[in-house]
Amino acid sequence: MAPKSATAEGCGLHFGALQIVTLVIFGVIAFLVLLVFAIGADSSRQEIPLERVQRQGYWFRKRWLAFLAALVPVLVGISILTTPFARGGGADRVLVKVTSGQFFFTFAPASVPAGSKVRFVVTTRDVTHGFGLYNPGGELIGSVQAMPGYTNNLDLTLSRPGSYHVLCFEFCGLGHHVMQGTFTVTES
Ligand code: CUA
Repeated sequence: MAPKSATAEGCGLHFGALQIVTLVIFGVIAFLVLLVFAIGADSSRQEIPLERVQRQGYWFRKRWLAFLAALVPVLVGISILTTPFARGGGADRVLVKVTSGQFFFTFAPASVPAGSKVRFVVTTRDVTHGFGLYNPGGELIGSVQAMPGYTNNLDLTLSRPGSYHVLCFEFCGLGHHVMQGTFTVTES
């Protein structure tokens, strides 16, 4: 199923469902933080004895520390399994050489068939640029830095045919905002 996306009228921006969910979650968190500050500001008018604050604070602090200590191994354990580390030497991958510069991206080859396991080998001719790859639905699917004198790899399996846009993610000069490229995934 194709991911849902919304269009901001006029400017041609596309937002994926995941980006909208992220925006809503951050909005809720920002509201909760504001609420905590509002409650704090309101209750600061009352006089409360220090002993009571210490007693309650220490009671909470010990339990909060225990909770965080238990949470860390759980979160690390879950997330490490899905962390997309680049594996292996790339022998089974289509190598796509990406050269960037002020203010362009070039690809060799410029297209691959759908379903290809691709390794983008990214570098730059001048200053540092950012290589940010968007799928045809406008969702960011990968990012790596383009650094002078180095090549950095980005491994992705491109299963969806269409035009993949690349935007520069690093302020690199006066033309930074127009620096983009297109990579094509053809029907296999
Ligand atoms: Cu290249 Cu910004």
